[in-house]
Amino acid sequence: MNAVPVIAVDGPSASGKGTVAQLVAERLGFHYLDSGALYRLVALAALRSGVSMQDEAGLAIVADALEARFYDGEVWLAGEPVTDAIRDEACSNGASKVAAFPAVRAALLARQRAFRGAPGLVAEGRDMGSVVFPDSHLKVFLTASVEARAERRYKQLKGKGITATIGTLLKDLRERDARDTARSAAPLKHCPDAYLLDTTAMSAAEAAERILAWYREAHGGNNAR
Ligand code: C5P
Repeated sequence: MNAVPVIAVDGPSASGKGTVAQLVAERLGFHYLDSGALYRLVALAALRSGVSMQDEAGLAIVADALEARFYDGEVWLAGEPVTDAIRDEACSNGASKVAAFPAVRAALLARQRAFRGAPGLVAEGRDMGSVVFPDSHLKVFLTASVEARAERRYKQLKGKGITATIGTLLKDLRERDARDTARSAAPLKHCPDAYLLDTTAMSAAEAAERILAWYREAHGGNNAR
């Protein structure tokens, strides 16, 4: 087993796993990988260069050549901050389409594994525990009811001054869940070796505490700040 610990947090869209995973990483002083951002960046780069969302080989080339950076709290594509751009609907839908292609997933694998560095990594996505870091020290499947997730997304968008309706958000989440679960390449699933964390009635801080407690139980250490 690689000595550098990994905590894998997988789950569906808008489950709050990003916020929770970042809290856990902060508390432990670990690195953080938002793997969904990489798929979103591939979608954005493809949209910008006119590569079709159906062209697996073309998308794999885009993924391989991706000039992606994460620093200053921003996501960068070829030197341009795109933190907000990759969250828009075109990139969200595009990401779940490009993510269904095995060649795209393969092109992003080494890049994701390179985030593993001392003192540890919290990695969030759909296949962190199953494919990218199967030797994770702790695996968590974080979910919430689709209604709770739509409600959270609604509040998030409202906070940014973006108008949306709960009905549209619910439809969109259900479609994305179906695509992520039904695909044959690294589908979203609750692996038997992952702890199930249902956050429908839980705050992000409570969910982070739960994960930190599991991590301490499993490793006997108490290195949370
Ligand atoms: O997590 P986020 O919603 O940002 O991910 C965007 C899309 O990228 C997801 O809908 C999913 O299809 C894909 N994804 C994936 N594997 C990951 C992370 C994200 O397939 N590890």
